[in-house]
Amino acid sequence: MSLTDLIDIAYLIAAILFITGLKKLQSPGTARDGNRLAAVGMFVAVAATLFQGELLTPAEMIAGIVIGSGIGAILAKRVQMTGMPELVAAFNGFGGIASFGVAGAEIAKIMTLAGAATGEPAFDVTSAVTIAVSLLIGMITFTGSFVAFGKLSGKISGNPISFPGMRLFTVLMFSGAIFGAGYMVWGAGGFPAAADPVVQGAILVGITAFILGILLVIPIGGADMPVVVALLNSYSGLAAAATGFVLNNTALIVSGALVGASGLILTNIMCVAMNRSLLNVLLGGFGGDSDDSEAGPVQSFEGKSVQSTSPDDTAILLSYAQKVIIVPGYGMAVAQAQHAVRELADELDKRGIEVKFAVHPVAGRMPGHMNVLLAEANVSYDKLFEMDEINGEFESCDVALVIGANDVVNPAARHDKTSPIYGMPILNVDQAATSIVLKRSMRPGYAGIQNELFFNGNNRMLFGDAKESITAIVAEIKLL
Ligand code: TAP
Repeated sequence: MSLTDLIDIAYLIAAILFITGLKKLQSPGTARDGNRLAAVGMFVAVAATLFQGELLTPAEMIAGIVIGSGIGAILAKRVQMTGMPELVAAFNGFGGIASFGVAGAEIAKIMTLAGAATGEPAFDVTSAVTIAVSLLIGMITFTGSFVAFGKLSGKISGNPISFPGMRLFTVLMFSGAIFGAGYMVWGAGGFPAAADPVVQGAILVGITAFILGILLVIPIGGADMPVVVALLNSYSGLAAAATGFVLNNTALIVSGALVGASGLILTNIMCVAMNRSLLNVLLGGFGGDSDDSEAGPVQSFEGKSVQSTSPDDTAILLSYAQKVIIVPGYGMAVAQAQHAVRELADELDKRGIEVKFAVHPVAGRMPGHMNVLLAEANVSYDKLFEMDEINGEFESCDVALVIGANDVVNPAARHDKTSPIYGMPILNVDQAATSIVLKRSMRPGYAGIQNELFFNGNNRMLFGDAKESITAIVAEIKLL
């Protein structure tokens, strides 16, 4: 068996591991195994590629693996769950620039070979097309992802940014990129191929794509960044797949296609769960940094006023309940309250009170955000219920405890046609006998709108940091 056969077999094994890993990510119970399988697949693919080209010495390979794994391990340990979307954005950006770099190196390589050969065409049309696609998508992904990173980390304003004539400028840049790509292909088609148009076209594609990536992301509000990150993730997959064609590397084509398709599916899931079209997200203008004016003490809404409660009263109410549904949201992630919440659920469980968790598909700031946090705190998976499974049970529950969730429990989504979240499926917390909302103030959530639920007669607000409030409730329940 030749080395090429062995490498093909290794690529096949890597592809099987990627697909099995992705499949296992479908459920929180198997997600960790899925992640490990996919990581092993990536190791196999990288190792096979390095052997294929005899590109590096074994010592260089080991050094690269140790340094790369070390950086990955430190990042994974250090980054907070709330910072995960920006880390993913940075990863996408590096993926994009890697594709751009490989395509650029391929141009240099072909030209060097052409210099040595005589009378042979330097570029064929097919490789010019794949190189152009790789350069274009790679660079858009790079700058777009780093703008998304800046918005998510607060280094750039989360507000939508635009300027007069921006759409026209974007169209101009896009036309420039297409012209550059066309010029490259035209140059490659000449016989013998002309290197100059290919290089000049590639430079034009690089510059216009650099600007395009920025222009496409700055008009989108910080709050919509997770959707943009999922879309850019899909782009980085497409750029990798195009690079796979440039290098004639099967593993890269397969993994790029998997990332491209799964990123698109994820983008679609988020848009459906928010009841917004992708176009509506991309055109921008929804959400942004909340300013202080929103933080004002809004104590009444449509003639109804807010009623607040204390941890002690909440503890008494919970201890007399038979069934409690806990609704986690973004605020639970901010407060890092998941361990305290698990302790509360355990205390109630000990007293024979039925406790269930209701997880909305877009609670938090990334898909599966709540599942990951609750899993980290060892909440058993069989207590976690998706919206459709649990929505019918709010009517029969005594207390719905909303921990740092806001938009995903706003009844306006059901009936207020003027609301920006109209049509978004929500958790029916308002149907519980009593609902208690834990948050720090009357500030709105992600959508920037007031929540009707807070003003319902059977709702109480427990103001304060979610972790501190839950800890106080648990302490009180233990005394009862
Ligand atoms: P939000 O509507 O953003 O509300 C979170 C609430 O948590 C805020 O009202 C905030 O109020 C409170 N909070 C923040 N820090 C807190 C702390 N330390 N202690 C207690 N409360 C705290 O969150 P949600 O209900 O989870 O809804 C998610 C939103 O994000 C949806 O609108 C969704 O469309 C959007 N979104 C989600 C995703 C994904 S994939 N999950 C992607 C894009 C967009 P205070 O400031 O008053 O405390």
